[in-house]
Amino acid sequence: MDSNRDQIEEIKSRLDVVDVVGRYVQLKQAGKNFSGLCPFHSEKTPSFIVSPELQRYKCFGCGASGDIFNFVQNIENIDFPETLEKLAKEAGVQLKKRSENSRYTRLEEINKKAAIFFYKALKSPTNSSALKYVKERGITEESIKAFGIGFAPRGTELLNYIQSDRKYSKEELINSGIFVEKEGKIRGKFFMRIMFPIRSSSGKVIAFTARALPENDFGPKYLNSPETPIYHKKENLYGQYESRQEIRKNNLVILCEGTTDVISAHQIGVKNIVAPLGTAITKEQIEKISKLTKDILFLFDSDSAGQQALERGFLIAQELGLSTFAATTAPYKDIDDLIAKEPKKFKTLIRKRLDTFTYLLTEFVKNKDLSKLDDYKKTVIWIQKMIKNEKSPTILNFYVESVYKISKIKLDIQKGTSTKNFAQISKNRVTKPSPSRELVYLQYLLYLSDIQVPKNHDIKYFENPDIVKALEYIKKKKSVTRDTLIKHFEDSTVKKLIENSIFSFAENESTAKELEDVYRNLVKDYFTRKEIDFNVKISIAEAKGDLKESERLFKEYQKLSKEKTKHEQNSRL
Ligand code: UTP
Ligand code: MN
Repeated sequence: MDSNRDQIEEIKSRLDVVDVVGRYVQLKQAGKNFSGLCPFHSEKTPSFIVSPELQRYKCFGCGASGDIFNFVQNIENIDFPETLEKLAKEAGVQLKKRSENSRYTRLEEINKKAAIFFYKALKSPTNSSALKYVKERGITEESIKAFGIGFAPRGTELLNYIQSDRKYSKEELINSGIFVEKEGKIRGKFFMRIMFPIRSSSGKVIAFTARALPENDFGPKYLNSPETPIYHKKENLYGQYESRQEIRKNNLVILCEGTTDVISAHQIGVKNIVAPLGTAITKEQIEKISKLTKDILFLFDSDSAGQQALERGFLIAQELGLSTFAATTAPYKDIDDLIAKEPKKFKTLIRKRLDTFTYLLTEFVKNKDLSKLDDYKKTVIWIQKMIKNEKSPTILNFYVESVYKISKIKLDIQKGTSTKNFAQISKNRVTKPSPSRELVYLQYLLYLSDIQVPKNHDIKYFENPDIVKALEYIKKKKSVTRDTLIKHFEDSTVKKLIENSIFSFAENESTAKELEDVYRNLVKDYFTRKEIDFNVKISIAEAKGDLKESERLFKEYQKLSKEKTKHEQNSRL
């Protein structure tokens, strides 16, 4: 654990956050910091700041923040050990080897070897009928290579191949998902099937989805690896590795149903596409893909199962706050079918996508007569079910208009969603905090050549408790640096505040005069606040007829006024 920590620090010291982030985000220097468009949410004006001083990044739009490890892990959508591996390589740091016997590594090794075996088998003349089938389906040589497509023949060759240079235990072979035990004997799980490797986000083969050859009527059409320690169905998508770069580039992911749909789409240049594997789409899958883009286009089969899957996907995405779109391959069954017959139409379809709600509603009312109470009721109930988790007022308004346009139903959104929900909405509304004057004060202070609170500055005029803490500490110490401050306030909210000041301050240095100006205005704010406060209190006391209290308040108010005048005179000097 500790040595792991040392390695992380070593890597951090060798890599610069500006270089690492700069590989994914176009950064512009803004004073001592760098800024750019946040890669973690869509925006038109840059609120993503990178601080070389802190070696951290922060987005003032969506709140994403962290160091190079957080950044690479999130943007590449990979787990921590993989991030470590990647950054260590870049930094030229030799990692202490994950033990060769690591349970996961060995299972990955078996899958990798199997993928190589299957790939070679597809090219072998003995299995020419398999290659013929693949070619007949229109799968190109290029796809075979890019997706590592292979073939599982009959026989026991696979086991011999896997056991050739390193021996795996029975348990490991079964845990790999590629072998099963039958009457005490280990044998392959897949026979006479076209093998499509399922790769993890970082490109490791972790499982297979296997299609039966037409002449093989044993078992289901598609047979997948079972759940294993390295493969969890509900988290993985076919194409997640092969499509990752294009998903980010296009800022859109197409979610479809079938393995071959993904491949066909790639073949006509649409490479931002993934598919779940033999299960309904899950929250985990959508969450994972949403790290690459927030825009999802559902392109499910045009049958009723496909449409049900669409409703489900829409509700999950809504819960996660994502915007989704939908389109249909009808009259064709699926993307594969559409591309085979009208390849150009596929790209038009993507361009002409509707938001999922409008799409679904149009479909829902197709065979309904809304002048009949029964159909009307059904439709309203359905609409309420579909929008109940939407939190954005803008999107809800859009839905109300969409409903009216399509069905002439006037939706009462206040009733359609609970009032509690609306209170939540106004609370959640993201307002970009304009840095308060106190924060600006702290920034100027932290960028003085000599960080000290001037003697004439009184902390009592400050309101923010964290800023007060920071100022008190600075006042007490004779000399501090931004670094020692951050270290001192480690693990407290004050640290965040200081970091924020550093992030949002664009200049390299400040002057005593600038600090003084902010201070004066800040004291003015203080008096304004107090005066309003007294006015309210005095009128309450008078309304209650509490003369004594109102007199006491008034005296205090006079004292405050004197203090204010004095402050104003000092300011003019
Ligand atoms: P489809 O039956 O629509 O497959 O199932 P497809 O892509 O059109 O298949 P082809 O064109 O005949 O080869 C869609 C997806 O559902 C899963 C597979 O992942 C498949 O890609 N599936 C289907 C299974 O897991 N098992 C099955 O038996 C069938
Ligand atoms: Mn198909």
